[in-house]
Amino acid sequence: MRDVAETENLSAILLAWYDRNARIMPWRTPPADRLAGVKPDPYRVWLSEVMLQQTTVATVHDYFRRFTTRWPSVTDLANATDTDVMAEWAGLGYYARARNLLACARAVVRDHAGNFPTTCDMLLSLPGIGPYTAAAIAAIAYDKPATVVDGNVERVISRLRLITEPLPASKPKLTRLAAGLTPAKRAGDYAQAIMDLGATICTPRRPACDICPWRDPCSARAKGVQTDLPRKLPKTIKPVRTGTIWIARNDTGAWLVERRPDRGLLGGMLGFPGTPWDGEGGHAPATADWQTLGEVRHTFTHFHLILTVQAAILPALNPERGYFLSQADFHPTDLPTVMRKAYNVASNFFVDH
Ligand code: ADE
Repeated sequence: MRDVAETENLSAILLAWYDRNARIMPWRTPPADRLAGVKPDPYRVWLSEVMLQQTTVATVHDYFRRFTTRWPSVTDLANATDTDVMAEWAGLGYYARARNLLACARAVVRDHAGNFPTTCDMLLSLPGIGPYTAAAIAAIAYDKPATVVDGNVERVISRLRLITEPLPASKPKLTRLAAGLTPAKRAGDYAQAIMDLGATICTPRRPACDICPWRDPCSARAKGVQTDLPRKLPKTIKPVRTGTIWIARNDTGAWLVERRPDRGLLGGMLGFPGTPWDGEGGHAPATADWQTLGEVRHTFTHFHLILTVQAAILPALNPERGYFLSQADFHPTDLPTVMRKAYNVASNFFVDH
């Protein structure tokens, strides 16, 4: 059992570092403001934490600004249409997050009078809120001593405590050790401090140990093995999948699109008709003089995708699949990234035809 004084000392050192070095972020209440009694807005904390999963801080900035300008409160978001929210999310990836985001906003308004619950247990009962997001909201929005564990925290704790067992098997141990360091007071600042430390100092390849507030207590640094940690099981090689995507306009300039089914990849997003992505089956949405324009490549979590892009001009009849969206109502920014890549290939074709 480590002594209480040691862990209190560690959290105090990190909080003092955070007071001087906290990154400025549009969703963050700076430590000086918190100390002066400013309370973070749970809606902004929740929204930013959902966006930040799987996405970099730099990318999230613009999306966060657009969302909070258009929907300043959870009630505004709950009243938005699915189509508008999916379009605003386009490009952020992991689209189940956007569908859950809307479901969660509606549940908060319907079941909790528009107020996010304050305990991890109640937060966990909401759509799209798992252990990480529940802890982040409880700690950052309400200063509850909940422990957030993301990739940054795993790296920092592995090094501080010299955990050589590889991830993901070491995760429960890392979570326990991280929880042992979480202070009873200023838990929200502490959660953000340890994530900032991982993002700016205790980085994967070239950690800046010389300026790290935890340099002396860091067990990995004492042995010079910090860049070897955390160990990870070798990544499995991603398979390559292939398919064809059909991009068509009719003679009024309208685009042939479809709304993807809610379940599955890119669920609920706008897209172009295509074959399944396993090289089997599927047929074009209409008989036409389809021209092959080239290929687009896109990598998803579990596979690489290569799509052959075909394009054609169609008569303005009802297609077998999808529907025509007028040129005025078609916004390429509403498309998820892989569809946007296909659109970019096809747009030249339509300039010439
Ligand atoms: N990464 C995800 N959420 C974060 C936060 N609140 N502060 C710093 N880095 C983060």
